[in-house]
Amino acid sequence: MPRVFVACESVALAADGPARVAEQSAAARRALARAAEHAGLDAYTLSKTARGAPRLDVAGWHVSLAHTRSLALAALAERPVGIDVEDLREGRLAKLQRYFEPDELARLGSLAPRELAALWSAKESVLKLAGVGIEELRLVVLTGRDGATFRLLHRTAPRTVVHREFDSHLVALCVDAAEYELGWLAEPARAGGPR
Ligand SMILES: CC(C)(COP(=O)(O)OP(=O)(O)OC[C@H]1O[C@@H](n2cnc3c(N)ncnc32)[C@H](O)[C@@H]1OP(=O)(O)O)[C@@H](O)C(=O)NCCC(=O)NCCS
Repeated sequence: MPRVFVACESVALAADGPARVAEQSAAARRALARAAEHAGLDAYTLSKTARGAPRLDVAGWHVSLAHTRSLALAALAERPVGIDVEDLREGRLAKLQRYFEPDELARLGSLAPRELAALWSAKESVLKLAGVGIEELRLVVLTGRDGATFRLLHRTAPRTVVHREFDSHLVALCVDAAEYELGWLAEPARAGGPR
């Protein structure tokens, strides 16, 4: 069964602007280093595709990164993977409704900001797995949900996304596999992180 490791790291406080974004990216790379250690990857190089998707030079391994102002995550997997994270304290979550179709909102079953964040992050994780950008958002459609598990269709590809909430954040994970073994790696210093 393919293995999937998800690691999280706190983002060190930094001034707004480029310094904070740089720290968010650095924290995601620290999370990746920890995931790689757990996966037994001795050395790797991270680069980017022409569309900005992160890429590893290790055959058989795939990566996805996500970060907010306070939390960064890395997913390292033996199948293509996409991860996204939303800060549930953000005031803008209610505005996400405009990006979704009425049919999808009916399937979502709720217009609560947390649920809108769940759908948004699910779609983002699907796009990240595919290595494409926000311009394909409307090509990802929610077809059903079962609690924290969302079923979506991206073009002709069926996708399943699982969610996990912790520390005021909602994490969405999409793996291109029917089954996989998931290891959540909490930050050593972080109490209450994912296990
Ligand atoms: C870039 C994008 C993939 C995600 O961006 P985001 O949600 O702003 O940022 P996230 O923290 O979730 O993810 C950032 C990481 O995605 C990765 N990424 C960037 N482009 C990618 C792509 N085409 N495919 C896969 N991953 C990608 C990068 O690794 C990046 O981290 P890095 O710059 O430190 O390497 C894209 O979907 C996007 O532009 N989203 C816009 C988000 C937005 O408009 N939000 C407001 C809604 S109201």
